[in-house]
Amino acid sequence: MVVFFCGTLQKVVLHLFIITKAFATLHKKSWDNCYFGSAECKCQKVPNNLLKADCSGRRLHTLPVFNTSVIWIDLSNNEISNISSGFPRNVSYINLSENNIQELVMHPFHRLSNLKTLNLERNMINITMVYSGLFADLTSLTELSLKGNIQNKFKPTVIKDDVFSELKSLETLKIDGPANVTFGKGFQNITMLQKLDLSGITGNCSFQRISHNMFLNMPKLTYVDVSACDILDIEEGAFGKLQYLEHLDVSHNKQLGFASLPNITHNLNKTSIRVLRGNGINCLSGIGTKILKRHFENLKHTNISEIYFEKNRLEQLEPGAFRLLPNTITSISFGENKLTQGRYILDYFFLQNIRVYNISVQLRPPPFPESIFEQCAEKTDVLHENKQYFDNEDIQEKEGNKYESMMNDFIGSKWNEHHVTFYIPKTLEVLYANMSRLYGTVPEFGINATGAREIYAQDNFLYSWDGPVHGMENIKIMDLSNNFCSHISKSFLKYARGLTTLRMSKNDIGKSLSSDMEGEIFKNTVSMKADSPSYEYDIMISYSAKELSFVLTDVIPRLENEAGFQLYIKDRDEPAGISCGEAIMEAIQKSKRVVCLVTKSFLKSTWQDYELNMSRMEAIEDRENLNFVHLIIFPDVCNGSISIQTLDLVRQECFSEYPEEECAFDDFWETLISHIKEFNRY
Ligand SMILES: *[C@@H]1O[C@H](CO)[C@@H](O)[C@H](O)[C@H]1NC(C)=O
Ligand SMILES: *[C@@H]1O[C@H](CO)[C@@H](O)[C@H](O)[C@H]1NC(C)=O
Ligand SMILES: *[C@@H]1O[C@H](CO)[C@@H](O)[C@H](O)[C@H]1NC(C)=O
Ligand SMILES: *[C@@H]1O[C@H](CO)[C@@H](O)[C@H](O)[C@H]1NC(C)=O
Ligand SMILES: *[C@@H]1O[C@H](CO)[C@@H](O)[C@H](O)[C@H]1NC(C)=O
Ligand SMILES: *[C@@H]1O[C@H](CO)[C@@H](O)[C@H](O)[C@H]1NC(C)=O
Ligand SMILES: *[C@@H]1O[C@H](CO)[C@@H](O)[C@H](O)[C@H]1NC(C)=O
Ligand SMILES: *[C@@H]1O[C@H](CO)[C@@H](O)[C@H](O)[C@H]1NC(C)=O
Ligand SMILES: *[C@@H]1O[C@H](CO)[C@@H](O)[C@H](O)[C@H]1NC(C)=O
Ligand SMILES: *[C@@H]1O[C@H](CO)[C@@H](O)[C@H](O)[C@H]1NC(C)=O
Ligand SMILES: *[C@@H]1O[C@H](CO)[C@@H](O)[C@H](O)[C@H]1NC(C)=O
Ligand SMILES: *[C@@H]1O[C@H](CO)[C@@H](O)[C@H](O)[C@H]1NC(C)=O
Repeated sequence: MVVFFCGTLQKVVLHLFIITKAFATLHKKSWDNCYFGSAECKCQKVPNNLLKADCSGRRLHTLPVFNTSVIWIDLSNNEISNISSGFPRNVSYINLSENNIQELVMHPFHRLSNLKTLNLERNMINITMVYSGLFADLTSLTELSLKGNIQNKFKPTVIKDDVFSELKSLETLKIDGPANVTFGKGFQNITMLQKLDLSGITGNCSFQRISHNMFLNMPKLTYVDVSACDILDIEEGAFGKLQYLEHLDVSHNKQLGFASLPNITHNLNKTSIRVLRGNGINCLSGIGTKILKRHFENLKHTNISEIYFEKNRLEQLEPGAFRLLPNTITSISFGENKLTQGRYILDYFFLQNIRVYNISVQLRPPPFPESIFEQCAEKTDVLHENKQYFDNEDIQEKEGNKYESMMNDFIGSKWNEHHVTFYIPKTLEVLYANMSRLYGTVPEFGINATGAREIYAQDNFLYSWDGPVHGMENIKIMDLSNNFCSHISKSFLKYARGLTTLRMSKNDIGKSLSSDMEGEIFKNTVSMKADSPSYEYDIMISYSAKELSFVLTDVIPRLENEAGFQLYIKDRDEPAGISCGEAIMEAIQKSKRVVCLVTKSFLKSTWQDYELNMSRMEAIEDRENLNFVHLIIFPDVCNGSISIQTLDLVRQECFSEYPEEECAFDDFWETLISHIKEFNRY
């Protein structure tokens, strides 16, 4: 048997991340050491002989005595408890996050009239203890963070509005949301306040209730984040009073239930709402939930463009619910739910301006063991006079005829002789349907989706790709990896003329590919024509000195003489007069593909290690395709069982195993040749 496998692209992201991180570290190193008294920090000179000082993470217990030229101070991650000795007069940025500050006595911010950003996150400050005059000099302060200071949520904490009212220029306030929180009249004096972040994800939030007048004194808010605040009740219209509100996040208040949506969205038509996040507003475990028309009703006359309802056990939508969303909707995310098919899918075609639709990751089991031990009861719809919810199925029956005729409009009449055509809103650009438990074959059908560019359908069970799929000329990126697919027909990609990236790894389509000697499968894809760059060599062979004889007796006859590939063999083709490293780089860049003969001595050789790593870099950075590298694993490496080291190798690249029995050699080379032909053509 010939084992053949290609890895996923996930690793690319990881590698790039590491590279970016390395650059970031390098960048930081350009700061020089500097001293303030005994405190050693890193400083950077900025124009006008001013200094930025980074004293973070230095186990400082006291505040360094900063020179007056310091205008930017990072003291995060220290053990400072007393900041009474004060800061340089002209400072504009102070970060004291993660220290041991308990008190703000003796006017530490006295005269700091240039301070714009003050971060006091993750200390032990009792916010109730702020006193009149504390903030009075902070006339330029635009951003204040006091999150993560509550130590005991059962002791009362009061936000003293008369003291906060001194912050005349404040635009962004990030603060804990203590139980029974109120934002009193003093907040009316903070006329520029736009952003209020109370999220319990980055701080402590437990106020349980949003009354209809909670934000009454902050009428200019454009951004409100009340996620993860243990909220049980939201009164009708609490957000509808915020005329300028654009972004609202009520996520991770899991007892709200969809039943709270009418109250949350009430009068949002009087705001400027654009983004609504309601992820995780239902308990972790339980039967599937349903979005009803009444939940979306209030969004009808808004100009909202993005809604997020991820992690809600969402299984169905009431038919017609989608159609209540305004035409301004461009992005809908229903990821991490348990969606099943239903008539609501037809409504989807009415979304005229949708660009991104995310239904990825369906039916993933809830987190264990939290979901079992959670004490959670979400709100459910209580409908008295209006029996809509319970009679819902009847209504569906009554509406049945209507839907059938819609079916005809949108699908039925488009039956041509051979296939159905699905009309997808022409604005839809990206469809995320990965890990969505899509199950079945992909038959011949058509899509009318002029705007669609990217389709992510990886990690499903689309086990046979028959097609052809008509109307996919404009699709550029398609991911079908990991679909347990064992068959791709020669005409599946017949209309995929615009494809630039196609991911199909982690399937079992080797057989289909190798039987496609004429290359019909990819005949029409654009890259066959993407004027692709020409390379001097078809394959660069990477091998250790010990394998030279194998290269001469097997590789060259099989791949060069028989299959007609132009090979780069370093002992033969390496140009004279350049260094070994340079020669390797040049050869990699001149080759369409790199094939490594992975033997025991290959694994021990530092040059081969270098060659492999450089090839990977090329794969990631220039070819954008990890399959650029192909490994042939030799029996002496496996010895019946694959070592951790090898396993680590093959996790990333395509690989095949060199057979032990002579009778399998022909089969091996044949498969390899057709695979490489396929790759090089694509
Ligand atoms: C701060 O001022 C003192 C005294 O003028 C000087 O010795 C020290 O080098 C200065 N530190 C920095 C970082 O400029
Ligand atoms: C602070 O800045 C002002 C104006 O930019 C300047 O006149 C003054 O000398 C600075 N003060 C200190 C202590 O550097
Ligand atoms: C904090 O520092 C100030 C000034 O250095 C000092 O007067 C005060 O006693 C200190 N307070 C505490 C509690 O150590
Ligand atoms: C303050 O420092 C913390 C920890 O280093 C960092 O995460 C945060 O982004 C900084 N805050 C600001 C406002 O720059
Ligand atoms: C904060 O201070 C107030 C007023 O002194 C006090 O009632 C409350 O218990 C304090 N909170 C904590 C967590 O210590
Ligand atoms: C308050 O929030 C911070 C930051 O999220 C967290 O580290 C701390 O444990 C929280 N305290 C309480 C009492 O929940
Ligand atoms: C919040 O208010 C309720 C009702 O007035 C009261 O029972 C509770 O103790 C308060 N909680 C705190 C932490 O102040
Ligand atoms: C708001 O500002 C006005 C004028 O500066 C002042 O008279 C009033 O006391 C302030 N209100 C509060 C609650 O601080
Ligand atoms: C909606 O708000 C009203 C009061 O404004 C309240 O009586 C009702 O219980 C709220 N409904 C839900 C589901 O929270
Ligand atoms: C706005 O929405 C509310 C309910 O959320 C509704 O009562 C009102 O009629 C709507 N106004 C307009 C102009 O659509
Ligand atoms: C939505 O946008 C339209 C056109 O720009 C505007 O006339 C209308 O007032 C907006 N409605 C809301 C609720 O913002
Ligand atoms: C797609 O639909 C549009 C609008 O209904 C129509 O004009 C166009 O001809 C259709 N395209 C194809 C290829 O069927």
